[in-house]
Amino acid sequence: MRGIYIHIPFCAKRCTYCSFVSGMPHEKMHLYVDALKREMDERPIKGEDISTIYIGGGTPSVLYRGAISDILSHIFEKCAVGADAEITVECNPDSVTEDFVSEIISAKVNRVSIGLQTDNDDLLKKINRPHDKAGFLRAWKLLEKIPNKSLDLMLGLPGQNEADLLSSLELAVSLNAPHISLYALKVEEGTPLYESGFAADDDLEADFYDSAYRFLISRGYDRYEVSNFCKDGMYSRHNSAYWDLTEYYGFGISAHSLLDGKRLANDDNIDKYILGNCERFVEKSDAAEEYIMLALRTAKGIDLDRLNGYGVDLMTAKGKEITEYIRQGFMIKEGKNLRLNDNAFYIMNDIICNLI
Ligand SMILES: C[S@@+](CC[C@H](N)C(=O)[O-])C[C@H]1O[C@@H](n2cnc3c(N)ncnc32)[C@H](O)[C@@H]1O
Ligand code: SF4
Repeated sequence: MRGIYIHIPFCAKRCTYCSFVSGMPHEKMHLYVDALKREMDERPIKGEDISTIYIGGGTPSVLYRGAISDILSHIFEKCAVGADAEITVECNPDSVTEDFVSEIISAKVNRVSIGLQTDNDDLLKKINRPHDKAGFLRAWKLLEKIPNKSLDLMLGLPGQNEADLLSSLELAVSLNAPHISLYALKVEEGTPLYESGFAADDDLEADFYDSAYRFLISRGYDRYEVSNFCKDGMYSRHNSAYWDLTEYYGFGISAHSLLDGKRLANDDNIDKYILGNCERFVEKSDAAEEYIMLALRTAKGIDLDRLNGYGVDLMTAKGKEITEYIRQGFMIKEGKNLRLNDNAFYIMNDIICNLI
């Protein structure tokens, strides 16, 4: 079983912090969708068993009507998509319309991920989001026929205080969102936010994260990955498959794939892509390191037997460090499973660096 990721590089406007490959001119949309289908024809996906599909971006909801159905029908014609496959589309509140919702439901989409980021209208304006809180609520209502919904929020936005963050979380919980992704702001080089001289405050972010974590746990959410919380087992199967090193195809500019143990990356030039000249690079990768990095971010942690299968006996290689982390209460070892304790997520990056 493999997954499919489709990258849609269009947005209504660019958020100040965003470094995703997005914001391409909208007049290229039709040619881009044609090129996506061509890429699928050229790569060996025929008959492949597919368990998850994720259309992300960018903002897939800004596509013209018919594009998402076209892309998905193309996949259904070529691949064996399981009847219970998880099919997710990312959307931005401002481009969620009645037509969009009807189209994705008929196209068999059964999960949506919607970006709110914060419910504070001043902050939304400041980061150049194309919607406000009222627009988000309108979109959420329109999406009511798709119960499997995820809501994206961010912490550490310029000028955001703890009360803002808790108010956004309160809103998500009051809407009974089955899944919440809470991302700590990354200030990436080349973004307007970076150019403005804004710098993230790691200590403040750690405090915000801690409050958010405690709030969500108290409201019945499970943290199944450092930035991802869900209720009633409604975790993202697609993203969980990434963290589990399940293989997947990525289509579109800048999309990555993991196939036959190799990581591949499409280049990000839309004009070349449209002309059918997409270059695909093999990236350097190390399955053992990736597994340690990804698994430690999850509540399940590392399966030490599985890691042995990648050629690393972690208890022998890093026994001293692990014993010390366990003694300090930062790690828990249960049989062949090694995971971070709840109090260790704020030093997760240091722990990962020491173990790889
Ligand atoms: C591709 S976007 C999702 C869909 C849509 N484009 C949107 O922004 O609502 C995925 C998510 O990544 C998060 N994100 C984007 N840039 C980020 C950054 N610089 N730091 C942290 N999170 C970021 C946002 O929460 C965003 O919703
Ligand atoms: S809407 Fe999403 S993908 Fe587009 S610029 Fe904003 S964060 Fe980036």
